[in-house]
Amino acid sequence: MNVEQQKQEAAIHAAGLVEDGMAVGLGSGSTAHIVVVEIGRRVQSGLRIVGVPTSDETARLARSFNIPLATLEAQNRLDLVLDGADEVDPRLNLIKGRGGALLREKIVALAGDQFVVVVDASKRVEHLSAHAPLPVEVVPFGWVTTRRRLEHIGFRCDLRGGATPYLTDGGNFILDCRPSSTLNLADPSVAGELKAQTGVVEHGLFLHIATSVVVGTASGVEVLSRPGRGD
Ligand code: A5P
Repeated sequence: MNVEQQKQEAAIHAAGLVEDGMAVGLGSGSTAHIVVVEIGRRVQSGLRIVGVPTSDETARLARSFNIPLATLEAQNRLDLVLDGADEVDPRLNLIKGRGGALLREKIVALAGDQFVVVVDASKRVEHLSAHAPLPVEVVPFGWVTTRRRLEHIGFRCDLRGGATPYLTDGGNFILDCRPSSTLNLADPSVAGELKAQTGVVEHGLFLHIATSVVVGTASGVEVLSRPGRGD
């Protein structure tokens, strides 16, 4: 089974977790896209849910399938949130944000009773940032000085889009940051230090938030579960 088939199988499994009457957070990115399409098919066959999208793009996709949508203000408790990830470590800590939607994704994930992450096997790593940089969303004003402070923490950061900066749905920039070999991204103090920097809106470290991870592997779908959040 190739990576695309692994993603497809994992996404279909995850969409199958959605039950009638649920409020569901709808993630962003190519894997979440497959999940939303599958939920959309089920809605067209009679499934009744309300969805809360994590990006403008996901909202457009959901509307194209007539999935009823609500804002997080109107629907602030979600039964289930389904989303992809860039990397997953053995404790189910994540890096997210390659698609640029990390801020809304984190707000929606934290509103969910269950936050189920959907990936193919290539996303599993021993240590975070093995392959993927850590996306950090920053306000455009003074971004060079914000980057300098991130470099003092131990990151080397590139402005996404370079001369034509990528803009998030919130109108912010993304810095794609590589940690030095001494930084352990699973250590909450690193996330805390990032978050404490003026100019940083949010970062793509999702620590102790995922309740389970659905992994598409060459030999089928595996589900990795955590006993609970915050352990
Ligand atoms: C979107 O901002 C991201 O957090 C995605 O969830 C993540 O990048 C995974 O995307 P793919 O499913 O496209 O790999």
